[in-house]
Amino acid sequence: MNIPQSVIWENHVIRLLDQRKLPHVTEYLMLDTVESVFEAIKSLAVRGAPAIGIAAAFGVALSALTYKTEDVHELKEQVWIDSGYLSQSRPTAVNLFWALNRMNEVVLRSNTVQSLRENVLAEAMLIQKEDAEVCRSIGEHALKLFQNGDRVMTICNAGSIATAQYGTALAPFFLAKEHGIELSVFACETRPVFQGARLTTWELMEANVNVTLITDSMAAHTMKTKQISAVITGADRVAANGDSANKIGTLGLAVLAKSFGIPFYIAAPLSTFDFDTPNGDAIPIEERDPSEITHVNGVTIAPDGVNVFNPAFDVSPADLITGIVTEKGVIKPDTASIAALFA
Ligand code: MRU
Repeated sequence: MNIPQSVIWENHVIRLLDQRKLPHVTEYLMLDTVESVFEAIKSLAVRGAPAIGIAAAFGVALSALTYKTEDVHELKEQVWIDSGYLSQSRPTAVNLFWALNRMNEVVLRSNTVQSLRENVLAEAMLIQKEDAEVCRSIGEHALKLFQNGDRVMTICNAGSIATAQYGTALAPFFLAKEHGIELSVFACETRPVFQGARLTTWELMEANVNVTLITDSMAAHTMKTKQISAVITGADRVAANGDSANKIGTLGLAVLAKSFGIPFYIAAPLSTFDFDTPNGDAIPIEERDPSEITHVNGVTIAPDGVNVFNPAFDVSPADLITGIVTEKGVIKPDTASIAALFA
């Protein structure tokens, strides 16, 4: 694949692909402080649930490597403070908290300053490596859901740059190319910040996957007139009962898919499942700055002072989801099937 990696650990700094500038500018940020990692996550320079977790994990590594002390207890305290700070960067994607918990446990288990520093860096790299393998498995399982010639709709970007590699919802399209299977994708532009128009179309075009861009409001008409065979999206958090949060607009696609009799799939790694969240009502939904809606590329498009509601995610209830594609296979979105995944 030609698609660059979004998070690279290089010479003690994080080299981060600035996703805000894509597709026309490929620029990397060099992050060498925990504050800069926080800002990169909050401002969407890095985004997508697994990539957020990976960036935060390397942020914890930066904390451990840069804080000057010879006292392991003091170092642990500082790294946990920084980990807590990073956990405030975005509220919805549970991969952030999952990755930080993994890092916190490694800190707990480390007994010397040197071993702590070595262990946290090794753990961040492991989280990234595992995610690439997990995404490839998700792609293999998802690919079995589609047939040669299928036209599949997606929203937002659950692609390679939203993960360590391959993506979740986009993974089957990359693997289809490897297997000589022709699938076409209809990508919703994804207002307000256009992850679909800017990132999904770019990734798929880089991989020579047939992709057509539509606005979010064209989804119903496109399903009706373009023989859409399925919808597949990523997730930011899957509750214990299967309700799944993803980019705003996903719920609309789930409702439409049901109405048109089209299967609606969520693709998500186990790191996106959250047993502490019993159902979708308990998933915190991030609300972002009104300027994301009132402005496009810095140019105002709405009257000054207009009231704005800007939720970044919505929740598709389990009963609208045909199946959740995980690295362990495709499961039914219900409490028993989800519990069995982790048994
Ligand atoms: O606000 P974003 O761009 O971080 O939202 C991303 C999504 O909603 C993705 O679909 C989800 O995180 C899965 S990425 C594999």
